[in-house]
Order: sequence, then C-alpha cells, then structure tokens
Amino acid sequence: MSDVNILIAFYSRTGSTEALAKAIAEGAREAGAEVRLRRARDLVGAEIMKKAPGWLENSARMDRDYEAPTEADAEWADGLIFGTPTRFGLVSSELKAYIDTLGGLWFQGKLNGKAGSAFTSTSTTHGGNEITIQSLYTPMAHLGMIIVPTGYADPVMFRAGTPYGASSVSGQTAVPPTADEIEVAKFQGKRVAQVARALKTLKA
Ligand SMILES: Cc1cc2nc3c(=O)[nH]c(=O)nc-3n(C[C@H](O)[C@H](O)[C@H](O)COP(=O)(O)O)c2cc1C
Repeated sequence: MSDVNILIAFYSRTGSTEALAKAIAEGAREAGAEVRLRRARDLVGAEIMKKAPGWLENSARMDRDYEAPTEADAEWADGLIFGTPTRFGLVSSELKAYIDTLGGLWFQGKLNGKAGSAFTSTSTTHGGNEITIQSLYTPMAHLGMIIVPTGYADPVMFRAGTPYGASSVSGQTAVPPTADEIEVAKFQGKRVAQVARALKTLKA
C-alpha cells in the first residue's frame, strides 16, 4: 500500500485530455503514489455526439477503460487532479457535474487541506487553456484545497504547458500531445504527489 493517494478525475472526448491524464498518473506513480484514474461521464445526447466522427466510439471505449469518479474516490484521495477539455474557454459541463457531486464532502470539510491541481487541452494555442485551469481553482478554493500549480519548477516548463498546469493543443484533427506536453503532465503528477504527501504528513 502506498503512503499517498491521488485521484485524477478527467473528462475527454477525443483523447487529448485522456493522454495528459495518463501521463500525470505515470508521474504520480513514479513518485510512489497510488492512483485512481477516472473519467466523468457524457452529458451530451447521442444526436449531438453522432455529428462528429469518432465521438460516440471514443466515449464508449473510455467508459470501458475507466470507472466514473465518485464521492468516495475524492474522500480516498490525498490529492485531486481535475482535467478537462476547454469548452468555450471554460471547464466542460461533464467534469463540472462531477465536481458538483462533492457538496456533501464540502459540508463536512472532508477535502479541506488536500492538494488540488488542474490540466486541460484546447484546440488552439490561445483558445483558453490558462483560464480553463484557473476556472478549476475556484471550486478548489471553496473546497479548502491547497492549490498546486506547475510553476516553472522544472526545466520542461520552459518548453510546454502553462505555469498553472499541463495543457496540450490538439488542432482541428485531435493531434495527440507532444513529447514535451507529456513531460509537463508527468511532472505535474510527480509534484502533486509530493505536495499531497507533505500535507498528509503535516496533518498526521
Ligand atoms: C463545444 C466545444 C467547445 C470548445 N471550445 C473550445 C475553446 O474555447 N477553445 C479551444 O481552443 N478549443 C475548444 N474546443 C476544442 C477542444 O477543447 C479540444 O479539441 C480539446 O483538445 C479536446 O480534448 P479531448 O480530446 O480530451 O476531448 C471546443 C470543443 C467543443 C466540442
């Protein structure tokens, strides 16, 4: 059993945010964490999902590969990392719907003092990656979490990502994250695991 638990709760439709989530998981595991990787479920109806090639298929595949995040996952975690594609410059409703299930834990102060961090994927360079990550800081503050940005705390941060968290630019054809974008995500996973461990030790 590991001494620190990390929940990565993400939404993804075409796989970019998923690829970052997997790299974050790898970084956290390398730092000794036990990781739960969970995908928030779709909210948009099949008639819309059918309009873009691959959306329905990707969704079905990811639903097979990942459990949906639960309240119990959040309570289990010492660090929570939220990931979302940018939707009109903000968090996706699918991930937000999961965050909105955490009201009971908020009421009991159960997430107070846990590490929180966020990441995103956009289709364009200035399509809202930084503001999307920052929009996830708001519920984290309400929940009393200690927000962990990536900063420029590793040389890879000068090559990709944002100082707020990992991000990728997928273009019009769902281009997968670059090697540097993946490195940033691994760094984020490692950093959050280290901070979550330190906070847990402090509490103990
Ligand atoms: C409804 C909708 C709104 C979007 N809004 C933005 C946006 O504001 N900025 C942007 O760069 N990309 C936007 N995108 C594109 C996605 O954020 C981008 O393709 C992302 O990489 C998808 O991540 P995923 O592969 O994990 O689903 C939007 C896509 C959809 C379907």
